Amino acid sequence: MREKEKNGGILILDFGSQYTQLIARRVREMEVYSEILPWNAPMERIKAAHPKGIILSGGPRSVARPDAPSIDKSILDSGVPVLGICYGMQLLAHALGGRVEKGRLGEYGRTRVVFDQTIASKIAEGLPASVDVWMSHWDEVHELPEGAVRFATSESGACAGFVAADGRIHGVQFHPEVESTECGREMLSSFVFGVCGCEPNWKLGDWVDGMLEEILLTVGENDRVICGLSGGVDSTVSAVLVSKVIGERLDCIFVDHGFMRKDEAAQVLAMYEKLHLRVHHVDASERFLSALDGVTGPEQKRKIIGELFVRVFEDEAARLGGAQWLLQGTIYPDVIESGTAGGDVIKSHHNVGGLPEDMEMKLLEPIRELFKDEVRKIGPLLDIPQRFLKRHPFPGPGLAVRCLGELKKERLDILREADAIFVDEIREAGLYDSIWQAFCVLLPVKSVGVAGDVRTYGETVVLRAVSSLDAMTAESVHLPWNLIDRVTKRICGEVPAVGRVVMDVTGKPPATIEWE
Ligand code: XMP
Repeated sequence: MREKEKNGGILILDFGSQYTQLIARRVREMEVYSEILPWNAPMERIKAAHPKGIILSGGPRSVARPDAPSIDKSILDSGVPVLGICYGMQLLAHALGGRVEKGRLGEYGRTRVVFDQTIASKIAEGLPASVDVWMSHWDEVHELPEGAVRFATSESGACAGFVAADGRIHGVQFHPEVESTECGREMLSSFVFGVCGCEPNWKLGDWVDGMLEEILLTVGENDRVICGLSGGVDSTVSAVLVSKVIGERLDCIFVDHGFMRKDEAAQVLAMYEKLHLRVHHVDASERFLSALDGVTGPEQKRKIIGELFVRVFEDEAARLGGAQWLLQGTIYPDVIESGTAGGDVIKSHHNVGGLPEDMEMKLLEPIRELFKDEVRKIGPLLDIPQRFLKRHPFPGPGLAVRCLGELKKERLDILREADAIFVDEIREAGLYDSIWQAFCVLLPVKSVGVAGDVRTYGETVVLRAVSSLDAMTAESVHLPWNLIDRVTKRICGEVPAVGRVVMDVTGKPPATIEWE
């Protein structure tokens, strides 16, 4: 990413809110660059971002506690506009000499907020007299800092928004980044453009040009790059970006663990050929199946697959003669969740295997500052077909975590056939693109049935279709009954081993999307 566009963006300091990434997305939706740093990032790092504005996220703590995350006063004195959200607002009030205390009741969920029309606040400019907002707090600002004025009040009478004397520092108790807040986008936009004076210059087309230039400058003239392709969007987009710059000096390795969906390996390889990627296909399915022989525990399956995956990849990389660079399709949520942006490690379970500590190759991660939807958007700019970009997410360990119990080729084939029928019907019904994930699971449970007067004892297939925004939470999709009926009949008719089809309608939480 070129410095020109990065400078002048919005810096978000993360105080531990579950919505921090959402703030960054909202800002980028306005075509303004934004990045997230942990609240305790070194001052030099904050200065190096040259932000035109800073947003302080929410967070779960109380500002008055001695161990509470704090803010360096020099940020507030620097002249850069600041917007504090929830904890961020309380922190601003506290740091500027106001008083924050535990409220009588706390406010959670949708709450009405009234704006004081007599107070000039850029954030509330042009908004209705009152709006519904999303609140989630116990502490309240009881006393404003000197010179600050309140421009919004919640239905419980609590301060819901204030602006400091110079009009540069604002705080809102609610979450403008959340969909449930009416006019939330307008408020953020007023801060970003009206208060900070940002320009909408974060364009994905420019980003691609800038990144191609950066790859050219980073990877040495004779360097070789190696990359693991999974068939997923992130690794594919990364590989295409790099191959546009270095062509034949990129070697891609596609480890086929044998847990792909029906015809998937062949389809993915055909597409890679069209994209002119040089792909080394390693069919390691036998090796994976024998390593998993007799294994039924979900975690054990994942661990064995993760480790073997790395080993197979390394063997192939060595066979190809090594490289100076390892290309990875890391995206922004991975950077933040794995703690490499400086925050806490939230989860690492979606990384298939880890990198060896003594790795000699340097890491190349061209899309590490993009969100998933941004990666999908640059796909067409790189001639990657839409049908591929819109594919439902698929777990790294593949069908191994959807085929419950023992992993046998015959059972995996049953699952592949049933899954292909379900997804095919979902596509036919025009529902594929509006569903986050639709797939089948094979249970380790058989049941009795009857077919042509003959007793059967068949496998059980589960249909699962969920809607989700980011896979953190999910809801079961209300599929039309005639679709479920048709899928059930087709699976039982076309996959003779199956005797029963059931539907999983559990949300996340309490379930997860995958069964294992
Ligand atoms: P869960 O089952 O945790 O899944 O609700 C959330 C999302 O992550 C996908 N998933 C994975 N993706 N490697 C991946 O790349 C994995 O090991 C993995 N496990 C789950 C899952 O399909 C869903 O979209």
